Amino acid sequence: MREDIISFLKKDVKEKCESSNNFFGIGIYYHIKAVVKNAVLLAEKYGGDTEVVTIAAWLHDFASITNYEYYDEHHVWGTKMAGEVLQRMDYPIEKTELVQKCILNHRGSVIQDKCTAEEICVADADAISHFDSIPSLFYLAYVKRDYSIEDGIDFVANKLKRSFNKLSDKSKVIYQEKYASALNSIYGK
Ligand SMILES: [Fe+2]
Ligand SMILES: [Fe+2]
Repeated sequence: MREDIISFLKKDVKEKCESSNNFFGIGIYYHIKAVVKNAVLLAEKYGGDTEVVTIAAWLHDFASITNYEYYDEHHVWGTKMAGEVLQRMDYPIEKTELVQKCILNHRGSVIQDKCTAEEICVADADAISHFDSIPSLFYLAYVKRDYSIEDGIDFVANKLKRSFNKLSDKSKVIYQEKYASALNSIYGK
């Protein structure tokens, strides 16, 4: 494990998230942390390289937190930026390329073929991260968007449904129970 790179990224990503230049607010830091956690968990199950997946998860939204203008194409900008950061830190080129593939293909909304186990781990972890931050979704619904109780419930449930549907088939099996219990608690069942 390249602990030097990982501890640098933890600190740098946190600082970028806390900066006033970060359009998304501190919530995106908790999102990124949840992506790291779930990506490592999936890497252990799918035989992905844990180091590659950890570095890619810390960097997957790097472009978005650096400059909001990059948001629409943040998978492309992030790929470029990750290459620069990792080259500076002498990370091997083959592993850097694996990290870059994970970043380029992490978005469920941008349909691309995911070939490596590491790409699937990061993309699925990104989709599932909402399940670890349900209170933030309610905060968004009731505080930021001022929704009624019912509209807030639908908003949160729809977000979770969309996230679940983006998962690979094998991750759907793993997260099925978590999904069902989240929906049950939201609908008060
Ligand atoms: Fe993203
Ligand atoms: Fe993300």
